[in-house]
This record gives sequence, C-alpha cells and structure tokens, in this order.
Amino acid sequence: MRGLRSDPVTSVTVRVPAKVNLQLSVGPPRDDGYHDLVNVFHAVSLFDEVTASDGARTAGEGPVAVSGETTVTVSCEGDSAGLVPLDGENLAVKAALALAARAGRPVSVHLAIRKAIPVAGGMAGGSADAAGALVACNELWGLGLTGQELMEIGGALGSDVPFALLGDTAVGTGRGEKLQPVPVGGEFHWVFALAEGGLSTAKVYGECDRLREATGERVAWPQADDVLMAALAAGDAKVLGEALVNDLQPAALMLCRPLVRTLSAGREHGALGALVSGSGPTCAFLAESAAEAAELATALQAAGVCRSAVTAYGPVPGATIVPTDHR
Ligand code: C5P
Repeated sequence: MRGLRSDPVTSVTVRVPAKVNLQLSVGPPRDDGYHDLVNVFHAVSLFDEVTASDGARTAGEGPVAVSGETTVTVSCEGDSAGLVPLDGENLAVKAALALAARAGRPVSVHLAIRKAIPVAGGMAGGSADAAGALVACNELWGLGLTGQELMEIGGALGSDVPFALLGDTAVGTGRGEKLQPVPVGGEFHWVFALAEGGLSTAKVYGECDRLREATGERVAWPQADDVLMAALAAGDAKVLGEALVNDLQPAALMLCRPLVRTLSAGREHGALGALVSGSGPTCAFLAESAAEAAELATALQAAGVCRSAVTAYGPVPGATIVPTDHR
C-alpha cells in the first residue's frame, strides 16, 4: 500500500515483546549443534522498540556502530548496553541485511533500539530486535513481504525470531522455529527477577548436555505437556504454575548459583510457579493477579535476591508497528 501514501515514509517504529518459556523440553543434541525442542513460548508485556530510518548515520552524530551501510544505536536501562554487540553481530543489523539481500536492494538504514527486555537474560531480547528490524524495514522499504516470509528469514537468524514476530502463545518444535499457536483462556500475571550480567545461550545448552552425560540421564524425545496445555486453555494460573518446566534450568543454576536463592525466595513469597526463563539468568514467577505480582516484585527486591524485579502480563501480540501519532 506504500504507493498510496502522500508523504514518503522516512522512519518506522516497531514494538516487540519479550518471551518466557512455559515448557522448555530439550531433546538430545543434533548433528548441526542444535537440540530438538518442545518450546511453549509465551509473549509478555516487556517491550523493545526498534526504529528504522532512511539512510545510515555518520560517525560524527554520536556513538553509532557501523556495518556497511547500516548503523545502529542502543539504549537500555541500567548499564547493560555494553552487552549488546554493536557491529555486524547485532541481530537487528543481521536482520536488515538479510531482508535487503532477499529483496535484492541496497541497504542504507539506521536502526535505533530502545531496550526494556533484559540483555542476554533468557527472554529473547536479541531475537525481538531482529523481529523488530524485519517488520520495520519491510514497511520502510515498502517490500510487502508477508508475515510467513518474514518468519522464514527470521528463522535463519535465530531460533526465537519467528516467535517474536508471531507473539501470543505458541508451541515451537524443531530448533524452536516451527510454530503452532496455542489457545489461551485468560491473562497471566508475571514477575521477572532480573540478574546482574547475562548467560550465553550456547553455554547453557552445552552445560545441559554435560550434566546429562555426567548423570547418565536418558533423554526422552520432547512432548508437549497435556496438563500445561489444558491449564493455558482454561486460563488456570494455579495449575499452570505447577506445570511450568525448563530442562535448561539445572544448567543455568549450575552456571549462576545465586539464582537458586532467587527461585526459592519467589516460592516463599507465594509465587504459583517459579522457573528460570529460557537459558537465564532472568527468573520468572507466576502470580494469581496483577496486585499479587506487584507485591511479589516488591518482596523480591527487598530480599536482595535480584538486580531488580518487574511485573508483566501475557499473552501479548508479536512485533507490531507503532502508529506515527503514538510516537
Ligand atoms: O538459534 P540461536 O542463535 O538463538 O541459538 C543460540 C545457540 O543456542 C545455538 O548456537 C546453540 O548452541 C543453542 N541452541 C540449541 N538448540 C536450540 C536452540 C539453540 O542448542 N534448539
């Protein structure tokens, strides 16, 4: 529909949610270094914003990082901006380049990323930024690619990128990139305890394999949990809290021991369920209501078991263009 616009679009902003994994069941390692999963993704109301603007910036305009004709700036809460790669390794930059290559067009774009999703926190912040860049550049350049086409490009960039595009709640299989939406009968209230520093996803998977080998654990082929699916369909937070499961949790706890205390503090303060989010180190707690989530966040902060605690709800939609008059 770009041709119908009277003014040329020079910038597009996209809001993208974080995810928490409600069930993360990890199969044996594959030949390509990945693991087959059953990954129940749930999008929650912590959002990054990616703004794509025409034309790369020049180095004189501030702390911009450059990859070819793509420049990127990142702002985050706290001092975690240093954990975000500002070169061609940045997933949003990779996304812009992959989209331009697919469209056979030159790429000259500036990406401004405003992060609220914890960096390297197990909540798919990098994948969210890639999804944001795909949707923003698709619109900015008037490419008209479908959601499915963007998901295919996103899946090649990272296992969690397709879900950041789709949002709501979905089961991911394969590496986590093959998605099937899951019906959810209500809203769930969460507290996320943010940790100091981050964990490398690859390292946590590696530690998971090491622990399994050391204990001789027989690794079953992952299956979606019927109890968890029924709890989601019914909107039953109590049952969901008990069904939450993350096979990466023992590995994340091994690599980051203080999280053991964080999880037990949440349970002691009445969380319906507590688990490490994805590969961590963020911990996720399910609460009965928004008011109970706010109380739990205050209690976790007062207990000194996290850098900070934030509340959120889910499910929420995936990457969405922010209308111009809302910016
Ligand atoms: O796909 P993504 O780039 O997010 O994955 C990061 C790393 O996490 C991979 O290089 C791999 O080591 C590990 N991983 C895995 N199995 C998956 C997804 C990720 O082993 N299904």
